[in-house]
Amino acid sequence: MEKFYIATAIDYVNAPPHIGHAYEKIASDVIYRHFKQRGVSSYFLTGTDEHGIKIQKSALDKGIDPQAFCDEIVEKFKNEWALLDVKYDRFIRTTEKDHENVVQHIFKTLFNKGDIYKASYTGLYCAGCECFLNERELDQNGFCPDHKAKPQEIMEENYFFRLSKYKNKIIEHIKANPRFIMPDYRVNEVLNQLKDIEDISVSRSKESVSWGIPVPDDESQVIYVWIDALSNYLTGVGYLNNDELFKKFWSANIHMIGKDILKFHSIYWIGILMAMEIELPETIYAHGWITVDQSKMSKSLGNVIAPNAILTAYQLESPDALRYFLMTTTPFGRDGNYSDEDFKNKVNADLANNLGNLLNRTLTMLVKYFDGNILPEAITSSENNNQADMTEKTVLSVIENFNDYEISNAAENIIKLVDNANKYVNEQAPWALAKEEETKLQCAQVLYNVLETLRQVSVLIYPFTPNISREMWVQLGQEDNLSDVLLSDLKWGGLKEGKITSAEQVKPVFLRMDSELAGDKKKK
Ligand code: ME8
Ligand code: MG
Repeated sequence: MEKFYIATAIDYVNAPPHIGHAYEKIASDVIYRHFKQRGVSSYFLTGTDEHGIKIQKSALDKGIDPQAFCDEIVEKFKNEWALLDVKYDRFIRTTEKDHENVVQHIFKTLFNKGDIYKASYTGLYCAGCECFLNERELDQNGFCPDHKAKPQEIMEENYFFRLSKYKNKIIEHIKANPRFIMPDYRVNEVLNQLKDIEDISVSRSKESVSWGIPVPDDESQVIYVWIDALSNYLTGVGYLNNDELFKKFWSANIHMIGKDILKFHSIYWIGILMAMEIELPETIYAHGWITVDQSKMSKSLGNVIAPNAILTAYQLESPDALRYFLMTTTPFGRDGNYSDEDFKNKVNADLANNLGNLLNRTLTMLVKYFDGNILPEAITSSENNNQADMTEKTVLSVIENFNDYEISNAAENIIKLVDNANKYVNEQAPWALAKEEETKLQCAQVLYNVLETLRQVSVLIYPFTPNISREMWVQLGQEDNLSDVLLSDLKWGGLKEGKITSAEQVKPVFLRMDSELAGDKKKK
């Protein structure tokens, strides 16, 4: 693989981000960090979707101009992503000038080609979705099933994109490319939607929506929000603006999006790219949704959780615990749930008791029995070495997991390795081996096996928990910059002889989370 380009959905800015938005951005950040560890030149795009009726209304409710409203909320998004160590290459806003140019260029090109035409239209518009729904998509009450609201009946003269022309080509593409829609259990849903796909409206009248990019050469219309939103993936990587960047990174290796917007990405977006004769993305990955205490987050239920609220409630110094929990709470792709109880239990078990405690007790023994030194004769060979074997196998399976974007499985495999190392220490009982002169060397070798495993674990788990990993890395006496270490550098024996630590340097890398804190907060 020569390059890797990952793009998230861009979030509506009608409200600040919650842990569902964070879920997608963290997952993308984890994948991005992993591919960088493979030495692949990588690019990560995220951003905000700022036009449309929903945002226009939210701004109006607040009595401020839409641009000022967006500016304010965008800061909140950026702050949350910084707090969560989500490190993108570009944060794109659909109100940026380079993006407006791209959107108008696409519109013009398709119009000139005859793939966009004007017609009058009657349709049912859901402002929550910012899209037209057909009758079949409504529930028994005639409501949008996602937003539980009655769509508005709209009669307008609009521009249409000739999506029907590309229908068969899209179906063929999906069938010929098993990695195009992932996870594979989502493919049928898209094929079903394709059965009755029609041409789609790509503009709205200015009277119904004023907050949008104008249709070129037609003052009375603005470009419909989805066309504007989807093309961010081109603008964000330099289309029409930075040829070098665009050539290097397009097409997207993965669009990381929620299951609710799969149709727009695997059908609408693909139709537009086909019409534009632009290379198609490799994978559209639809992840599941995160609920809170088994309920959908909503303003009316008052259960919307901002990521920063969790970090504050638990007085967490880094986002690692939350990153780790969200990435492991459910098999990646499926719906998942956040609860305070599960959060505490999971990170206390895996990060404090399993990972942190193993490092801590092993380093403490190294200090106590060897004054923090790795003796040259303690360095074990990987031949006939069960620990080395398991470590090597874990590196390979983590890479395989990431090939299929099985993020939760990757984390699980890493923790399994740690768990096995814990069992190994208990079986070998280095504290007993340390007591006798003739087993002292064996003790040193056991400690080495564990510490070398943990050195590799800190690299493997780095995409999930960058801060804990860095702390482990330093406590293991490693001097290279952890973010520069490649998976291909992971060879058994990387932990070298010499003094790596001292009593003052050994400290827990992750403190058990106080079980009272969240309880107190809940009572208030
Ligand atoms: O759909 N759990 O924006 P959006 C997991 N602007 N993911 C969630 C979630 C939850 N509880 N809630 C939302 C839009 N998401 C459009 C996208 S892309 C060209 C335009 C995910 O703010 C959702 O599935 O409603 C989507 O992928 C992203 O957050 C933004 O949702
Ligand atoms: Mg949404």
